[in-house]
Amino acid sequence: MENIMSLSEKPLENTTAQLTALFADRTQRMKASEIRELLKLLAQPDIISFAGGIPDPAYFPREAFAEAMSKALSEQAASVALQYSTSEGYTPLRDWIVGYMARHGVTCTRDNILIAAGSQQALDYLGKIFLDQGDTALVTWPTYMGALGAFNAYEPRYDRIDPQTNRPVEDVLADAKAAGGAVKFAYLSTDFANPTGVTLTEEQRRTVLARADALGCAVIEDAAYQELRYRGEEIKPILALEIEEKGDIDACRTIYLGSFSKTLAPGLRVGWAVAAKPVISQLVLTKQAADLQTATINQIAVSEVAHGVFDSHVAKLREVYGARLQAMLAALERHMPEGIAWTKPDGGMFVWVTLPRDMDGAELLKEALKANVAFVPGGAFYADGSNTNTLRLNFSMSAASKIEEGIARLGQVIRDQM
Ligand SMILES: Cc1ncc(COP(=O)(O)O)c(C=O)c1O
Repeated sequence: MENIMSLSEKPLENTTAQLTALFADRTQRMKASEIRELLKLLAQPDIISFAGGIPDPAYFPREAFAEAMSKALSEQAASVALQYSTSEGYTPLRDWIVGYMARHGVTCTRDNILIAAGSQQALDYLGKIFLDQGDTALVTWPTYMGALGAFNAYEPRYDRIDPQTNRPVEDVLADAKAAGGAVKFAYLSTDFANPTGVTLTEEQRRTVLARADALGCAVIEDAAYQELRYRGEEIKPILALEIEEKGDIDACRTIYLGSFSKTLAPGLRVGWAVAAKPVISQLVLTKQAADLQTATINQIAVSEVAHGVFDSHVAKLREVYGARLQAMLAALERHMPEGIAWTKPDGGMFVWVTLPRDMDGAELLKEALKANVAFVPGGAFYADGSNTNTLRLNFSMSAASKIEEGIARLGQVIRDQM
């Protein structure tokens, strides 16, 4: 028996080793997401987790979706809902998005819109479209780690897009050329960014646009959290500012990414891209090659729910999450020792904490888990893994009493490490 086992195991091991050796070089840059690995640890019952980045399922518009799905599966409708459909996306949903974008100052037609399986898919496609190996992608420091994950497969180098910088554009271009490529795009979150919660002012948005004009690159504006504003006035998207300047979306370099994940439900995987027609046409070709289309029934259900309850539902989320943000900011004020700084966002799902220079977020997490509180260490949000004395706190998933208790525990853990 033993002999048979070892005989059968050996070739399997060799074959597996052979297979993995065949993986393309790009796979070297595909790393397990620290967040996903972490989430596995969070099953402990008493843990208060500020680690996730997800909406509270208690506030999914479940009934509206149940109705929409049932309607989509009715006898007359099912032949459409269960069928293949166009790569561009479900027309009534794109038309709803035309109206939504107009409310945010972006004049476009449905031909400027692609529906994607989440804005994450659009990030992957944009990486695929723009990046040759060694090209430069400009990102903020820190940035959304899922964007780094999407772009990494296309083997870019990263440089910084920083609205406050006075680094000459010529230097950025020269560095990109010396690395063997060109500056292809600047990717950034404009409102309540993941991970910092920070929102760019209108002046900063104009600066980003002016720098992109000077660099001759695209701007990828990630607006995943735009609707989740709890205080202050809306600031126009970069795409809206660019249309004001250039007169027509088809003359613009900004590619806007929207998502229904934070407002309605992430599980349906419906997001969108808005851009000049040549960019959308290329995205459509990319989608045709990759997955043909976003799930028909999901788009129909999202369209139905968006037409019906989007505004009232988002108003509810603003109330609930806004109170949680207040609870977190007040708890931080109460429980954090001297020397700890944090952002004070106007919306979104995250607060970003900066620890003293010599303190490491990942090391702190090990101690925090012993005290049954979790967060995401900040290093993974930097393209170069720097600034590890940071961490991200999520407030959308916890009730105010849990936030108070969790931040009190975290404050104590930090104090013990100082
Ligand atoms: C900034 C940002 N962009 C994009 C995404 C991806 O969202 P979607 O569910 O639309 O793919 C996320 C998800 O967490 C995000 O935080």
